[in-house]
Amino acid sequence: MANTNPMPGRTDIGMEPVRKKSDAEPEKTAIRMRVNGEDVEVAFAPHKTLLEVLREDLGLTGTKHGCELGECGCCTVLVDGRPVLSCLALGVALDGHEVGTIEGVADGVKLHPLQAAFSDLGAGQCGYCTSGMILSAKALLEEVPRPSREQIKEALAGNICRCTGYLKIFEAVELAAAWLAGEPAEPRKETIYGWQ
Ligand code: FES
Ligand code: FES
Repeated sequence: MANTNPMPGRTDIGMEPVRKKSDAEPEKTAIRMRVNGEDVEVAFAPHKTLLEVLREDLGLTGTKHGCELGECGCCTVLVDGRPVLSCLALGVALDGHEVGTIEGVADGVKLHPLQAAFSDLGAGQCGYCTSGMILSAKALLEEVPRPSREQIKEALAGNICRCTGYLKIFEAVELAAAWLAGEPAEPRKETIYGWQ
């Protein structure tokens, strides 16, 4: 007998939506991790990446969502102090680990020297790469307090910037390194105003 239901996908009884197996909510997994110095417990679908967990489940949208292929670096966070591409890390693998995002870099309202230097030198323009750049640079400065220009380039090689041409970013990392070392460094004039 032909199906006379005028609304395919609904049952005849009470017109309740048919719940297909594929529509079912995926089971969630709960993990504990320390994020920006705070212990958190978070439950999410086990296929989610760390990037998705941070942005969608913890509301930490400072970590940017770019290529999702491990190519651009804008999703960089620190895991146990080391830079990690959060688009390539499964959230469930972070159980028991420490995660640092851009939201935890400032000390209250006081900017981290890297944030201040990026801001003073215009090293962040559209800003999409900036959180990843700052976290990669932070990890570098914790390991090598006064890096050479070559070491800075190498440390930031996985972070792509479409706006700045990189020079101001390298100079901002050098300026922050000097400030962190307690030197009264100032950006060169041409860094701010260009060659005159
Ligand atoms: S979004 Fe992770 S590397 Fe591009
Ligand atoms: S400031 Fe725009 S991508 Fe780097």
